[in-house]
Amino acid sequence: MAILTGNKKIKAAVFISGTGSNLKNLIQFSKKKKSPFLVKLIISNNLKSKGLRFAKIFKIEKKIFKFKKKSLDEKKILKILKFKRIDLICLAGFMKILSKNFIKNFKGKILNIHPSLLPNYKGLNTHKRVLLNKEKYTGCTVHFVSPNLDSGKIIMQKKIKIKKDDTPKKLAKRVLIEEHKLYPKAILKISKL
Ligand code: GRF
Repeated sequence: MAILTGNKKIKAAVFISGTGSNLKNLIQFSKKKKSPFLVKLIISNNLKSKGLRFAKIFKIEKKIFKFKKKSLDEKKILKILKFKRIDLICLAGFMKILSKNFIKNFKGKILNIHPSLLPNYKGLNTHKRVLLNKEKYTGCTVHFVSPNLDSGKIIMQKKIKIKKDDTPKKLAKRVLIEEHKLYPKAILKISKL
């Protein structure tokens, strides 16, 4: 399904919960001429997300929804997304699971980045589990979001080799570098679908 028709840029909302390095990277990419999208809105469930500072730095509107009453907050978010004519949602370290109903409302227009080679290692603590299982490779995946966690259609993946002295921390750092390259590439790819 085309995200957008015509020559206009895709209006994206980025959802975060923490550091926001992917958010920062997406904003920086969005400012390039070749970028097919603009980041118009930042949503977080966590008032203390470090990533929220990028709203001020880059002058982008931000909204916080704590998800205490999930269905109510999701309704409010959908209203804002509609009002701001958002075409695409990019989850970037967003730690809440969106409901089936929410996903249905943005069908084929929600992306996520996950720090493993999906379908392997869905969920949390991927790097720790990858090392415990003595895997030779790991990586990251950008995929469409479906109601089942980390299970939607894969858009792009990047594989990296695990080193003998890797720790979850070291691995997370190397995978994150690849995430920052992969997410913009995946958005470019879907913008041409
Ligand atoms: C990334 O590793 C992402 O793949 C995962 O959470 C982390 C978020 O990092 N879903 P950041 O907040 O973008 O720095």
